[in-house]
Amino acid sequence: MLRFVVSILICFSTIAPFLNSVAIAALISCSGMVPMNYRNDKISITDFGGVGDGRTLNTKAFREAIYRIQHLRRRGGTLLYIPPGVYLTGSFNLTSHMTLYLAKDAVIKATQDTWNWPLIAPLPSYGRGRERPGGRYISFIHADGVHDVVITGENGTIDGQGDIWWNMWRQRTLQFTRPNLVEFVNSKNIIISSVIFRNSPFWNIHPVYCSNVVVRYVTILAPPDSPNTDGIDPDSSSHVCIEDSYISTGDDLVSVKSGWDEYGIGYGRRSFDITIRRMAGSSPFSGISVGSETSGGVEKVLAEHINLYNMGVGIHVKTNIGRGGFIRDITVSDVYMEIAQKGIKIAGDVGDHPDDRFNPNALPVVKGITIKNVWGVKVQQAGLIRGLRNSPFTGICLSNINLLGAPLRWSRSPSWKCSDVSGASHQVSPWPCSELSSSHPTNSCSSHL
Ligand SMILES: *[C@@H]1O[C@H](CO)[C@@H](O)[C@H](O)[C@H]1NC(C)=O
Ligand SMILES: *[C@@H]1O[C@H](CO)[C@@H](O)[C@H](O)[C@H]1NC(C)=O
Repeated sequence: MLRFVVSILICFSTIAPFLNSVAIAALISCSGMVPMNYRNDKISITDFGGVGDGRTLNTKAFREAIYRIQHLRRRGGTLLYIPPGVYLTGSFNLTSHMTLYLAKDAVIKATQDTWNWPLIAPLPSYGRGRERPGGRYISFIHADGVHDVVITGENGTIDGQGDIWWNMWRQRTLQFTRPNLVEFVNSKNIIISSVIFRNSPFWNIHPVYCSNVVVRYVTILAPPDSPNTDGIDPDSSSHVCIEDSYISTGDDLVSVKSGWDEYGIGYGRRSFDITIRRMAGSSPFSGISVGSETSGGVEKVLAEHINLYNMGVGIHVKTNIGRGGFIRDITVSDVYMEIAQKGIKIAGDVGDHPDDRFNPNALPVVKGITIKNVWGVKVQQAGLIRGLRNSPFTGICLSNINLLGAPLRWSRSPSWKCSDVSGASHQVSPWPCSELSSSHPTNSCSSHL
């Protein structure tokens, strides 16, 4: 009996730290980072003539409801309720101190009338539209210079009906850069939670020049062949927290950015303090990504507890000559991936240029990237790390990484390829390239492996 009790105690003491860390991990969250204000004042889109029949155009109703929130300001702000139904509308702008609340089975659906889609000026850190010169189509749901805004509800849907835009891209008939589904510019204290995003024309959620942004409990869906439908792209923004979400799109799931070549360098606004945790998804491109637009600099990014399935690249840090800027202090940990062309890629030759005025001497500095606790199965190539000859990547630290090939489908076991990089590795399988295969005491990263 005593032996039985003792063995139970031993058993418990070995798993207890594990349980503890699980419990602690479950407690860490973005909640509290941005106050979720309760709105006493509530209005419904139907009060403004909104009709959820899927055919009536509700642009006027949305704009009038939001005009009312902006100009008849109530203490504590106003909640705009979208009841069950399908509300077709053109683009509209949000205002401060509002909650856009989508009931269960409420759908806000973008019109496919691309002819009347408004244009706005390009972002200064891009100098032009991201895919076409000149201005860009305004995002379906757009906000500039706002604070205290919440988009939430009971898992209602924001549907971009993007196929018409994807086809224009495919047929090269796009005049200007496609609209994002939701964009916040120059804004702070933003919460996006419990909403489903579908078929964005371009990037799904784009906070740019923002701070204090929380995105949680969202589902983002677009077909794997839909062009440039990135999930969440924090861009020249700080204190962004993304968690507990599922993303399956045609491009990067989460990609941290900060502007493009000479425009991004000139604007000089970095992204920092970005947390990404407990995410899952799949994409033919990257899972957790930094870049390639990083001209204002990206630092202090933490991504952890990530599950990826059917990926192009699991973890991808990308930049290019002409980008300038820096990528530093990036940590990615506790990643599980299944079926991926590449497990890890860190490269200085990815992405295109806004024009040929980029400065070929503007070399990015990539320094201090820690990737640890990664488990992958059916990974075709373990890793590719390609620094720049005149700006080698330093402090690339890999530990506790296991990337397995698929014995039947791919005959060779996955391997690493590296150039112009230094760093260290510890318990990495398959054995990484010689540049990383030993821990030199002088190495900047050996201390935290
Ligand atoms: C929405 O905001 C954009 C840019 O912030 C502005 O150009 C546009 O006029 C606004 N549209 C409406 C309908 O208020
Ligand atoms: C929204 O969906 C998630 C799962 O995707 C579920 O856990 C949550 O309870 C739902 N929330 C509401 C308010 O229906």
